[in-house]
Amino acid sequence: METKKDAQEGSLILLKQGAEARVFESSFVGRKSIVKERFSKKYRHPTLDSKITVKRLNAEARCMTKARRLGVSTPALYFVDSVLYTLTIEYVEGPSVKDVLLEFGLHGVVEEKMDDITRQIGNAIGKLHDGGLIHGDLTTSNMLIQNGTNKLVLIDFGLSFTSTLPEDKAVDLYVLERALLSMHSSCGNVMDKILAAYRKSSKQWSSTLNKLAQGTIYATCDKEVESAPWLGDCYTSLAHHPLHLAAGKVTSTHDIRSPVIAWVRLILNFVYVIL
Ligand SMILES: Nc1ncnc2c1ncn2[C@@H]1O[C@H](COP(=O)(O)OP(=O)(O)OP(=O)(O)O)[C@@H](O)[C@H]1O
Ligand SMILES: [Mg+2]
Repeated sequence: METKKDAQEGSLILLKQGAEARVFESSFVGRKSIVKERFSKKYRHPTLDSKITVKRLNAEARCMTKARRLGVSTPALYFVDSVLYTLTIEYVEGPSVKDVLLEFGLHGVVEEKMDDITRQIGNAIGKLHDGGLIHGDLTTSNMLIQNGTNKLVLIDFGLSFTSTLPEDKAVDLYVLERALLSMHSSCGNVMDKILAAYRKSSKQWSSTLNKLAQGTIYATCDKEVESAPWLGDCYTSLAHHPLHLAAGKVTSTHDIRSPVIAWVRLILNFVYVIL
């Protein structure tokens, strides 16, 4: 990630404004840091909003430290401020895996580097999953390669949660598979390499990969998702992912919603084709 200048102690340089949070570069007791601020939602009752925001803030901090305990590299957590709704964390110097793979897409894959990155990704996810932690947002922009050490560092635990269910682990992998397909298809089959490392790292790989295979079959049957890839976002709500439906977890909810979803998809597809 490039910044024009380093932040002075206490000052904030906005790096990213998302729907849920703002991310700043700052400095914490002389160390370059990242401040992630969750903002309140004006449409919610203030008391409820504050409770939800603090709960999510703490959940992100807890998941990030749990990942670290499981042996996965994450930035160090410096400070949690439940009044300003901020997390202050270590700044990791180095490109994201997204930047590295985009570079490979443009100028050719450096096989040795690719093997190292995919091995580290599979290994890290295996450790998380065996420890009962689901990352929830495994995209290549949430993985950084630390300058100097070339160590993979996982960031953004804002959607993480604890679970030992193979369905949840498979959805985690499925999100990554889709991110790779949509962003980095020119790099070859990156997911296969990651899964090979995952099998070595996770003791419970078999049940997870079985669920992943089931889910992929369900999802590839869904032509609308294929013709308009952004419709895959429907599955960012894990509860409505095909794997969960296959496991019979929320089938009834889906059944009630399906005519509405079908209409919404039809309209979105129509708009997509016109644009
Ligand atoms: N510890 C860190 N060190 C260096 N850069 C970071 C760090 N944490 C976050 N970033 C940068 O800020 C960006 C956004 O951070 P993060 O993913 O945590 O926020 P987000 O709002 O959840 O983003 P998104 O919605 O894109 O997932 C990252 O993609 C990365 O470029
Ligand atoms: Mg992110």
